Amino acid sequence: MKKKIVIANWKMNYDLHETTFFIRNFLKIIFERKINHNKKIIISPSFPFLYISNQILQGTSLRISAQNVHHMDKGSYTGEVSASMLKSIGISKVILGHSERRGFFFEKNDVLLKKIKISLKYGLKIIFCIGETETERKKDQQFDIIKNQLEKTVFHCSPDEIKLFCIAYEPIWAIGTGKNATYKQAQTMHEFIRYLFLKKYGEYISNQIYILYGGSITDLNAKYFFLQKDIDGGLVGNSSLKMEKFLKIIKS
Ligand code: 13P
Repeated sequence: MKKKIVIANWKMNYDLHETTFFIRNFLKIIFERKINHNKKIIISPSFPFLYISNQILQGTSLRISAQNVHHMDKGSYTGEVSASMLKSIGISKVILGHSERRGFFFEKNDVLLKKIKISLKYGLKIIFCIGETETERKKDQQFDIIKNQLEKTVFHCSPDEIKLFCIAYEPIWAIGTGKNATYKQAQTMHEFIRYLFLKKYGEYISNQIYILYGGSITDLNAKYFFLQKDIDGGLVGNSSLKMEKFLKIIKS
C-alpha cells in the first residue's frame, strides 16, 4: 500500500508569525494527541518563510515545498526565485503548473516545461498540477485537455525523471469554490491519467506515480476522495489554513 500524500498549499496566506505559529503548534498537537498520521505531509508556505519552516521541521517526517520557481538558471529577472536558490536553502520540492499560475501569471505549457527541466536539473521533486475549466468540462473536453497538458509538459521527461513527479489533478472549477468534483468524477479522471502514464511509461511507473486530487477538499469530504482507488492523496488549499480542519483531513 502506498502511503497517501497530503499537501497544504497555503498560497499567498500567512505572514512569518502565522506560518511559524501554525507549524510549531501542528507538530505539538500531532505529538500530544499521538496522531499516527501514516501519511506523507507537505506544507507549502510562501517564499520568505520556506527557510525557517524547513528549519522547524528538521528531524520530523513533515516536509516543505515551494509554490513556484522561475524557469531560468539565474540573471536579470527582478523579483523571481531560482531553483538553485531553493536548493541552497534545503528545499527539495516545488509545485508547478498550478491553475492560479497558469491563469493569473499566464504560464503556458512551454514555460512550464522549462520550469520542469530547471527543477529536475537541481533535483527538485515536482508536484505538477493539471486541470480543466468549467467550460471545457461542460463541452466534455476534460480528457483531451488533461492529455494535452501532460503531453506538452511532463511527458517530455524520461522514465528516470518521472520518478521525481507527483501529479495533482485540480479541476479549475473546483478550486476555492466549495464545489468539489464528485468522487466518481475525480476517480474517473485519475484512472484516465494513470492509463496515460501506463501507455507512455509502462505498468511499473503508472502504478508508482502519485496522483493527488485538489479542489475544495474539506474535513468532511476528504475521506471519500482518499477511498477512491486511483486517488493517492490531496492538494488542499483553504481547508489547510485551519489547523483542526487540516488535522481531520490528515486523520481521514
Ligand atoms: P481549495 O482547497 O481552496 O479549493 O484549493 C485547492 C488548491 O488550489 C490547492 O492547490
